[in-house]
Amino acid sequence: MDAAYIANIEIVGTCNLRCPACAVGNYPDGQRQLGSLGGTMPLARFEAILDKLALESPVPKEQLFVALYSWGEPLIHPKIDLLIRATKERGFQVGVSSNLNYGNHLEKMMLAEPTEVCISLSGFRQATYGRSHRGGDVEIVKSNMQRIAEIREANDLDTKIIVAYHLYRHNCGQDLFEMAELADRLRFTLNPVWALLLPLEKLLAARDGMIAQADQETVANLLLHPDEQFAIARENLDLKGGCDLQSKRIDVDVDGAVRLCCATFERGTNIAADFLDQSLDDLHRRKERSKLCDDCMGCGANRIFMASDIDRWMEIGGPRIAAQGYLNNAGLGRLDAPDLPREQNLQAELIAAHHADDRRRYEAAHAALARRLRLKYGYDAIAFSAFRSRLTQRSDAAKVWRRGFHGPLDPLRLYFAQNRAARRFGLTPTLHGGDDLHDLLALARNWDEGDTRYQATAQEIGDHCRRLLDRSAVA
Ligand SMILES: C[S@@+](CC[C@H](N)C(=O)[O-])C[C@H]1O[C@@H](n2cnc3c(N)ncnc32)[C@H](O)[C@@H]1O
Ligand code: SF4
Ligand code: SF4
Repeated sequence: MDAAYIANIEIVGTCNLRCPACAVGNYPDGQRQLGSLGGTMPLARFEAILDKLALESPVPKEQLFVALYSWGEPLIHPKIDLLIRATKERGFQVGVSSNLNYGNHLEKMMLAEPTEVCISLSGFRQATYGRSHRGGDVEIVKSNMQRIAEIREANDLDTKIIVAYHLYRHNCGQDLFEMAELADRLRFTLNPVWALLLPLEKLLAARDGMIAQADQETVANLLLHPDEQFAIARENLDLKGGCDLQSKRIDVDVDGAVRLCCATFERGTNIAADFLDQSLDDLHRRKERSKLCDDCMGCGANRIFMASDIDRWMEIGGPRIAAQGYLNNAGLGRLDAPDLPREQNLQAELIAAHHADDRRRYEAAHAALARRLRLKYGYDAIAFSAFRSRLTQRSDAAKVWRRGFHGPLDPLRLYFAQNRAARRFGLTPTLHGGDDLHDLLALARNWDEGDTRYQATAQEIGDHCRRLLDRSAVA
């Protein structure tokens, strides 16, 4: 999400799953009520909260992101479409994060066109997924992913769809690989997320050496043990920098009560009984005065929730991921896994090979990227339309580009990369030099899309690309 301020509003006070790393799953029956109230937020309360946010927002309204969840499953809400529409009407961004096991309201949720839908999961096969998404069925999730993709395409929706793949020790191999393939095929953005022990209360207890027997297995399955996370956080404590969860977020529960932050679960830590009774400024002042925040920042737990030390985490966690066979650790990024067969990673490899003056490596990267582009878009969707979209910004392809494609998945770049490499390696390019293409692009720019001359030129551009995608490298 691209936002300066986030308001988490809990529209459903319960969840259909019991993930063991989440508070909803790791508080036993009888204790879950410490944090989960159950029930759903009425539309009127939701709108009152939005109206107050509109009056008090510390940022321009288009930079305020309303997340319809904290510790609940938003897709259960029978009026989710109305809640999304009400948020958009006020000019805010709006996002849903869902385990996607409950699909009854899927269509109307999508048709309300939220800014973002995040699909949280942790495996491709049930044996993997079911361990960390307890009570969930990954086959239902996958079929709902397909439905979402179809609804988005059929209705030409701009909603960005993110697959938040929770990374554990048990699921970074073949499962991650296959989920990356599926996400690519559906044109979703894969976003690997390091699974943490939630909520804050449990993390602080773990810091003090108290991990409940029932949580031991979950903790052992994390890529980084909380002890390791705290040790790294302590190294960087003097970096300070405050806490974004404290200063740039507000979290409202299903009954209107205000949580200290989105990492806290137990209602005993709440800072106000009703969001509507306090000014946003006052609420932030309460957060700043919170003893729990002092404790949290004092040991760097906030750095864990903000993933502030991800580069250091990688040094320890990377080899553990690599041990699962599919990733080599080198440079696994902030949220990315470069060895996954995604365009941006393949393109990075292409460019690196070019700079390294390594022709063999370059050809392998080029072949892999060309294959990926072909597989994902087919010829016409990418080779032809991608160029058109660059020219007009109003073609169908331009809309496709808008929808959350991250990274350079652009055959034009591939084309120029090929020509650069041809020069570097002293080879003859299989295609004409870049000049031809430049001329064609310049020509096409003169005409309207409906013009037959435009179409003829665009067709020629498409042919260039088609040849490009058919060749693996230079001759
Ligand atoms: C608690 S969930 C509630 C929303 C919804 N039920 C879901 O799972 O997406 C809120 C966010 O926390 C993330 N999340 C859940 N468990 C996590 C964990 N153990 N570590 C890191 N993030 C987690 C989810 O991906 C989701 O975006
Ligand atoms: S992570 Fe989401 S799906 Fe899993 S138990 Fe928590 S709220 Fe439910
Ligand atoms: S300091 Fe800790 S408790 Fe306070 S807002 Fe940040 S993460 Fe939450």
